[in-house]
Parts: sequence; C-alpha cells; structure tokens
Amino acid sequence: MSKVKVQVTREVFDEVLDYLGEHFEVSSNQDDRPFTPTELAQVLADKQGALTVLTDRIDEALIAHCPQLKAVCNIAVGYNNFDLKTMSARGVLGTNTPGVLDAATADFTWALILATARRLTEAEAWLRAGEWKGWKLKQFLGMDVQGATLGIVGMGRIGQAVAKRARGFDMPVLYYNRTRLAPALERECHARPASLDELLSQSDIVTLHTPYSADSHHLIGAAQLAQMKKTAILIHAARGGVVDDAALITALSSGTIAAAGLDVFENEPKFNPEFLKLRNVVLAPHIASATTNTRRNMAMLAARNLVAALAGERPPNLLNPDALK
Ligand code: DGY
Repeated sequence: MSKVKVQVTREVFDEVLDYLGEHFEVSSNQDDRPFTPTELAQVLADKQGALTVLTDRIDEALIAHCPQLKAVCNIAVGYNNFDLKTMSARGVLGTNTPGVLDAATADFTWALILATARRLTEAEAWLRAGEWKGWKLKQFLGMDVQGATLGIVGMGRIGQAVAKRARGFDMPVLYYNRTRLAPALERECHARPASLDELLSQSDIVTLHTPYSADSHHLIGAAQLAQMKKTAILIHAARGGVVDDAALITALSSGTIAAAGLDVFENEPKFNPEFLKLRNVVLAPHIASATTNTRRNMAMLAARNLVAALAGERPPNLLNPDALK
C-alpha cells in the first residue's frame, strides 16, 4: 500500500525526517528557501499533511488548491499564519508547539533585558570600530536591572517563565493578562495583576509575551508608549504586529522611552530600516527560541502532531477541535 504523502516546508533536523519517513512518503525542502504562496499551494496540492513554519500562510486560497490536506502542523507556538476558521470549515487540523520553547524564549528575553539595560550591543559596536581609547567613569552608563519594576504583558507560559527568572534580580513584577492567574500561580511567579495603563506607567521594563491576533494588533502604539516612563525600556519577543514599529521608532528617537530590545518586527525580514539608525535599540533576527535542543524539540513535537493527526487520532496540540466535526 502506498504511503500517505506529507510535505516539510523548510529545513528540519535529520531525525525529524527519519521519524516522519517511518510513517509517510516525505517531501522536504532541505534547501530551506521559503516557498512563495503559489509554490506552497503547488507542493501541497497532492499532500495530506504538512509540517510548516510561521512564514507559511495556510489560508483560504491555499486550502482551495489542496483538497487532500488533512493536517498542518506548525513548528512554532504562534499560529497567526493559520486561518483556523477556514481550516476548521474544510476539516483541516492545525497544531502548534506549546511548552517546549518556554525556557529558551524566557532566557532570551532576559538576554534582551540585560543587553538593552546595559547597552551591550552599542558598546560592542563602538569597541569593534576601534573607538575605545581608555576607561572612563561615565562610559556607557546603563540602567540598574536589580530592583527595577518588571511589567509583563501576556502572562501565559512564557510570561510566567520570565517572571520566575525576575526573582534573582529582586524585581517587583506586574502583569497584564486577559484572565487573572490562579492565586497559587501568582504567588509562584511573585507577580501582581495590573491594568495595562497601570503596568505601562509604573514599570521600568515592559516585556511583551502576547500572541498576535486582530485583538493584539498594535497593542503597543504611540498612545501606550507615551504612558511609559521616559527612563523605561520595552522588550519585544512575541510577534511582529503587536507593536506599531513606526510609533516605536518615533518614541525611541524622541526620548519618549529610553530604549528597546527587539527580536520580532512587522514585515520580517524586511523590517523598518529606521531601527538601524538608532543606538538605543538592541536588534535580533527572531531567534528567541533558537537553541539546538529547543528547535529540535519543537520540530519533533510538530512531527508527532502530524503522525497522530494522520493516524486519525486527536493530535496533542490541536488548535481547532471544530475541524474534527
Ligand atoms: C514561535 O514559536 O511562535 C516562534 O516565534 C518561532 O520560533
């Protein structure tokens, strides 16, 4: 009997391909050049399953071209590249990879917090340019992280992991979330709930961990940046679009806030080039979850979701149970 056909849309680890190969006839894109929407629709036209990444849009136009498609498994916790409503209507299961990237993403958030507060990349660029002529008392003065108030917007698993790491820095932690955490979890995170207004105006460091959706589009724009302290820093490792990047550039250049540390942008990878002109911003190319173990675990979890989904089981990280109807 011929095997079910699946497509892996980008380069993955060999062990993931080996595992998928035990179950399916696998086509993979190990060249790693992202497919255009037309190419994606072409390669998925005869496939029942796909292992995708955040840049692969699974929308109505694509699904219309792929009548055999039964499951699309994202190698990402975010799934704003899925049109879940259409997928459910067509009976296409969608899954993501929650949990396995919390620690790596929280660690990287702290890397951004420390690098931004202590001006690490700015100082390194200056040193590499041969500018260092000697030690000075006032050279690259930064901001104390110890004892600063941390405001966490979006208190899911990653937000909670960021909060737990703040204990070592003796930081009061405020959080803003759609639903309040259970009291025991609040105690574990040493975090107090706040309105977004209160969090923005009281925090020295604001860090964003909310998923991107129509509701969170430009959650942080000019009005919200104006509520922050002039000395505050903004950290963003959630998803491009949660912040209005043009408004952030204006806030950073006009002194509305002190600095920002960013791992995600609107319109990646063609982010707003004005960011490059600013010294008070630390920039990273969407790598918060990029440790070898974490990316391997994400890809394996996505593969396990695909195997379960195409075996007619409920995949562990199903996003649209409606599709089962
Ligand atoms: C995710 O998992 O959503 C990340 O942004 C990709 O690493």
